[in-house]
Amino acid sequence: MTRIAVLTSGGDAPGMNAAIRAVAKVGAGHGVEVIGVEGGYEGLIAGRFRPLTHRSGDRLLPERVVDLALGEGGTILGSSRSPAFIQPEGRAEAAKALETMDGLVVIGGNGSLRGAHALATEQGVSLVGVPASIDNDVGCTSLSIGVDTALNTIVDACSKISDTARAHRRAFVVEVMGRQSGYLAMASAVAAGADAVLFREQDRESAAIVNSVERVIRASFDADVGKRRVLIIKAEGVELPATDLVRSLNERLVDLEGVEARAIVLGHLVRGGSPSYLDRMIGGRLGLMALQALEEGAGDEMVAWRSPVEGGLDTLDSRVQRFSLERVAAESEALLDGSSPVMQRRMRMMETVEGVLAL
Ligand code: F6P
Repeated sequence: MTRIAVLTSGGDAPGMNAAIRAVAKVGAGHGVEVIGVEGGYEGLIAGRFRPLTHRSGDRLLPERVVDLALGEGGTILGSSRSPAFIQPEGRAEAAKALETMDGLVVIGGNGSLRGAHALATEQGVSLVGVPASIDNDVGCTSLSIGVDTALNTIVDACSKISDTARAHRRAFVVEVMGRQSGYLAMASAVAAGADAVLFREQDRESAAIVNSVERVIRASFDADVGKRRVLIIKAEGVELPATDLVRSLNERLVDLEGVEARAIVLGHLVRGGSPSYLDRMIGGRLGLMALQALEEGAGDEMVAWRSPVEGGLDTLDSRVQRFSLERVAAESEALLDGSSPVMQRRMRMMETVEGVLAL
């Protein structure tokens, strides 16, 4: 293997740069030229390349920009959600742009890895995926790059919101990203000391949501309980908008003197920021194993961090296993439709925790 490409695709995630850096540096160390693709699959179709290694005499060295980017959020290569790549013709163009490469590393989430699988199977491109998405909805991996930083940002925001909420005896509904996945909401609710958590996978009607949150607020502000703030974390995937929920709550809580509910949507704030230690470490180790997998002839796979499912191929790194992208796609689907034992376990844990959060 002498020359490979690397791209980031879909929603950016803190730690993507750590993975790019690892691919570029390990590539250089192994004598493999690494070419960055700018702007994800859109950039690949358009052939927008940028070298991440260069020759110096008989040595191959990484571009210094990859080191500088280690602590930066986002992705130095840029990203996109590419409508053209969804079409087979777009993927054929992408494969043509890769003709002079021996392989491709795709750093991205669910949709990007599904696209990668299609590129590998239809066009015979040798590629390895690296899971990166704050949503943590990629199957076969316990964590995707970016999740830890996003959770730290949410917990920090909730603690600031709690300061002001306690001063005014307020209830806050905090909406967090995650698309159809409730993972960020579930995990942050526990770490931020929330009183309740709402996520799509609970499959509740809007009226039932309003009733349950009203109950939690009334119970929490009860004189015996003595709370001065109520924190409800709501996942983006719950269809009832946070502002509508808060409007209904305020209409119902008029008898609770001095108590008010407010809504805040954290939105893209959660996707930015310097990556945490964990995201840099996972990014680096997955990047390294992705390159090694390509060198060992992997063609349609993903490297996973501490996989919660059986059947992966072990790598040199005891925390990293390799899975076929077909298996990853099936497991990702099962996470979202609730048929995955991983999701079922998460749901059972949240059910156990739910009653305790409100105490
Ligand atoms: O997939 C990552 C994510 O941040 C989701 O949590 C969110 O629903 C979506 O991307 C937002 O996408 P965009 O930045 O294109 O609005």
